[in-house]
Amino acid sequence: MVSTRTVRLASRLAAVPRASLMQAATPSVAQRAAFSVSASRLKSEVIKETEVPVSVYTPDSKGVASSNSDHFSIPVKSGSRAPEPIVEEEDKVSPLEEKIYRQMPRTLQKMSVMGKVIIITGGARGLGNHMARACAEAGAKAIVIFDANQELGDESAAELHQKSGLPVSFFKVDVRDGNAINAAVQNVVDLYGTPDVLVNSAGIADSNIKAETYDPAMFRRLIDINLTGSFLMSQAVGRAMMAAGKPGSIILVASMSGSIVNYPQEQSCYNASKAGVIQFGKSLAAEWAKYNIRVNCISPGYMDTALNKVPALDAQKKIWKSLTPQDRLGAVDDLNGLCVFLASDASSFMTGSNVIIDGGYTLY
Ligand SMILES: NC(=O)c1ccc[n+]([C@@H]2O[C@H](COP(=O)([O-])OP(=O)(O)OC[C@H]3O[C@@H](n4cnc5c(N)ncnc54)[C@H](O)[C@@H]3O)[C@@H](O)[C@H]2O)c1
Repeated sequence: MVSTRTVRLASRLAAVPRASLMQAATPSVAQRAAFSVSASRLKSEVIKETEVPVSVYTPDSKGVASSNSDHFSIPVKSGSRAPEPIVEEEDKVSPLEEKIYRQMPRTLQKMSVMGKVIIITGGARGLGNHMARACAEAGAKAIVIFDANQELGDESAAELHQKSGLPVSFFKVDVRDGNAINAAVQNVVDLYGTPDVLVNSAGIADSNIKAETYDPAMFRRLIDINLTGSFLMSQAVGRAMMAAGKPGSIILVASMSGSIVNYPQEQSCYNASKAGVIQFGKSLAAEWAKYNIRVNCISPGYMDTALNKVPALDAQKKIWKSLTPQDRLGAVDDLNGLCVFLASDASSFMTGSNVIIDGGYTLY
């Protein structure tokens, strides 16, 4: 079967003049001679060691550098064996303990979110929920979920608290509702102190809707949730950080659709909303650098979440995968590491960035 990527590459090649393709494809006599000499030399230079020498220097029992050393060789087997899969207990949440944190090297300490109060919108499920778990594992003092879904939000907060033992709260807030957001953020300040981090993951998607038939009311709704919601949340949390004179990190979840046009589905409104989020994030980063508030965007590619678990999308998912060099959709926890990094002080010189995390989709 011919993949869509192959078809696309073929159509790009079709645009190249035939003469130049022929020229590139047919080597001259001199080129052929040079190739055969270097090919035979390369063949004789193929390196295939039968053992690998190793030197190991070990500190003494007090952890001090010593002259203890060990030198040995390990045999090399021909043929490669598939590595053993790492079996992880998927649902476990193991928060970083203070005493472990104190023993960690400075670089790793900076990569944690030790002691930080973190608000995550859209944390009831999907990417937001997994980023909340990751922040809990990376040392957060408290996790606060803002979500419009009462049942899921409450369940996920109770579950995260049970699994981590951390303070976790859920606020049923719609990110379109400025007054409710302000009241909820004030309550977070009273409960845990000023938030250090906002992760804005709440969002919706409409796809396979042609612009010529898009209902303007649906268009406005999507812009209101994805873009105005990002603004209202950032404004409320930013104001709280400014009032406390506290540095902070705001992470907006945009999408690669803010930078490229997806194929084959038509979704102009979603793409426009996410382009707006990226440009809003950059503008805010410039405005709020003086307050020590950093603003960055995460732009995921196609992720395997409930948002995309719609039977109508099954056929398109095959095309999305075929256009992704890693040949898969992102896992629901594939944003976790980036989220923790952007929330942590390890990214303190990073603001206004839009980080695309897409298995290579946007390379083509
Ligand atoms: N899944 C993907 O392929 C993908 C790709 C790129 C970007 N994104 C973005 O990532 C974010 C999370 O996506 P997901 O796949 O986890 O989606 P999801 O549908 O699994 O989760 C979204 C969460 O946001 C909440 N939410 C929706 N509207 C809300 C509102 N008005 N107020 C408050 N909460 C609201 C939902 O209740 C839900 O808990 C979204 O912004 C989405 O656009 C997703």
